[in-house]
Amino acid sequence: MNILPELKARFRAALTDLVSDHQQADVDAVVNMVRSAQDARFGDYQANCAMPLGKQLGRPPREIAAEIVERLDVADMCDPPEVAGPGFINLRLKSEWLVSQVNAAWGDPRLGVPQASPARRIVVDFSSPNVAKPMHVGHIRSTVIGDAICRTLAFLGHQVISDNHLGDWGTQFGMIIYGYKHFVDRAAYDASPVAELGRLYKLVNQLVEYHAGTARLPELQQQLAEQIAAAEAAEADAEKLAASGKPADKSAKKARRRLEDKVAGTRAEIAGLQARIEAVDSDPTLAQLAADHPRIGTAVLDETAQLHAGDATNRQLWEEFLPACRQAMEEIYQRIDVTFDYELGESYFQDRLAAVVADFESKGLARESAGATCVFLDDFDTPMIIRKKDGAFLYATTDLATIQYRVEEWQSDEILYVVDHRQGEHFQKLFAAARLWGFDKTHLQHVAFGTVLGKDGKPFKTRSGETVGLVGLLDDAVARARDIVAANDDAKKNGPELSESERDRVADVIGHAAIKYADLSHNRSSDYEFDQEKMLAMQGNTATYMQYSFARVNGIFSKGNVDIEALRAGSASMQLDDPHERALALELLKFSDALVESVDDYRPNVLTNYLFELTKSFSSFFEHCPVLKAEEEAVRTSRLLLCDLTARTIRQGLNLLGIDVVQRM
Ligand code: ARG
Repeated sequence: MNILPELKARFRAALTDLVSDHQQADVDAVVNMVRSAQDARFGDYQANCAMPLGKQLGRPPREIAAEIVERLDVADMCDPPEVAGPGFINLRLKSEWLVSQVNAAWGDPRLGVPQASPARRIVVDFSSPNVAKPMHVGHIRSTVIGDAICRTLAFLGHQVISDNHLGDWGTQFGMIIYGYKHFVDRAAYDASPVAELGRLYKLVNQLVEYHAGTARLPELQQQLAEQIAAAEAAEADAEKLAASGKPADKSAKKARRRLEDKVAGTRAEIAGLQARIEAVDSDPTLAQLAADHPRIGTAVLDETAQLHAGDATNRQLWEEFLPACRQAMEEIYQRIDVTFDYELGESYFQDRLAAVVADFESKGLARESAGATCVFLDDFDTPMIIRKKDGAFLYATTDLATIQYRVEEWQSDEILYVVDHRQGEHFQKLFAAARLWGFDKTHLQHVAFGTVLGKDGKPFKTRSGETVGLVGLLDDAVARARDIVAANDDAKKNGPELSESERDRVADVIGHAAIKYADLSHNRSSDYEFDQEKMLAMQGNTATYMQYSFARVNGIFSKGNVDIEALRAGSASMQLDDPHERALALELLKFSDALVESVDDYRPNVLTNYLFELTKSFSSFFEHCPVLKAEEEAVRTSRLLLCDLTARTIRQGLNLLGIDVVQRM
């Protein structure tokens, strides 16, 4: 049962008669003011809607509150509502109702979570790395957030289609093809194609950036000189103004700040370029390669263009490289327990692109501009290019073809793109173009996320400035988890419980979980700092703590020799006499609301927050209410059932985040 939506529906009904027709539009906002109470002394739920309504209707809020209460039909669920203070309406769930609900949840394999109705068909486009580049820390977010969204939606009863839109057709293939043709180390390639292709990608990329950087440097230096001059001129103006005794101009001050920021930005960009150039210049082998391949940038684009044009050699190399690259990614997905229904990469859509452009043209939705085919969109300064001057199609063209496919083949009601926020403009344009094209019945949403930062607050890089590889990070987390598990086990009162191989298995589960949970527990819109120590902490909002709470319940059962299966099969039921029992039961019943809310705007951190509240609630229950040592048998049994429902809810919640539990740790 979803308590909050139910209460809101009851309020809606009560309000409908109260406000006149022209105010109906505001009813939503008012109904949304029904919330969980912050302080249990004031009840379980609270509604502050009488205050704004009072203003609207020009009447005292307390009077309005009293009138709402009179019309509110919640007698089956709640004790009589109370009006407090300036007009708060406090609701307390009836004890018998709470008891019957929590018993029903306990007896339900779905833990009381109703199936969504109507079920929607939702495509989730996530992970979607560019193959041929090793996966790095940035890929973790899309993969983990997308997977959690899929699992939660599916549990709620929606039809989910997960699709890994692999970048398997872009410039990175031009890079490894060029690298293979000129620099391959055969023995290394034969021994491990993926490692060698990774090296080639890095090498070619480095050489391309070297030449691009050397070419761009003078231009940037010129730009810097101009920016400095402008900043100095503005500064001089400001000094003159100050000397003349006139008041400082605020907007001029702002403009000066902007100029200074520009100077700093350009300086940083130059420093970055210089460091990359220096890295090549200072290495004789690299410097020689750079000198021998002066036009590598265009050569790489040519290789890509030839692949796209169907050149036999490049096509054959692509077919040879792709399975190896996919295999390497597959190993990571297996490790972190992520699967896809489809992995239709960009290459899958290539033979549809010409038709997409032709369709836009024939419908008069695209026209030529400076040789390129463009879709002009309202509300955007620049058009969306769907075919370049040289005939090449773009990322956007592929995405349009993909939307057509997903709507026509899969009849999707909704398509979610779990992609870095920096692609925001691409998706806004893409969605606008798709609507223009006629796909206006499918809800398209960019589920954007921020950047993973290092301790210095900058994008997470290795000391030498490279992006951090995913495999290394996972290994590291597991190794740290292994130490924690060992220390924890060694410190147990009656001596260690886990064998070496159990310790390994537990560390594997806990290490991977820590990384996933840390990512999911941050609001996806913000950047977050990757901190291995924090994410493995035994206390606080971490996977480790949730897993520990689960294992703790399990420990109660094994310590008391409780046959939980027999208990589940029996006819026992819960009673909620102690306030801590009641508080825990109420928290357990909020699971359903948390799931619904977490997919409302696709924010898994709503679910992690819920789990954190639940484990806290369990902890204070456990502190105040003896379970195995409960005096009466009925109380003992009732508490065991509460423990059981707690453990199952934690396990289910973590499972929806793609996280496993262990029985002991
Ligand atoms: N491969 C792209 C990248 O790594 C992400 C693709 C996201 N999905 C999409 N349909 N555009 O940036």
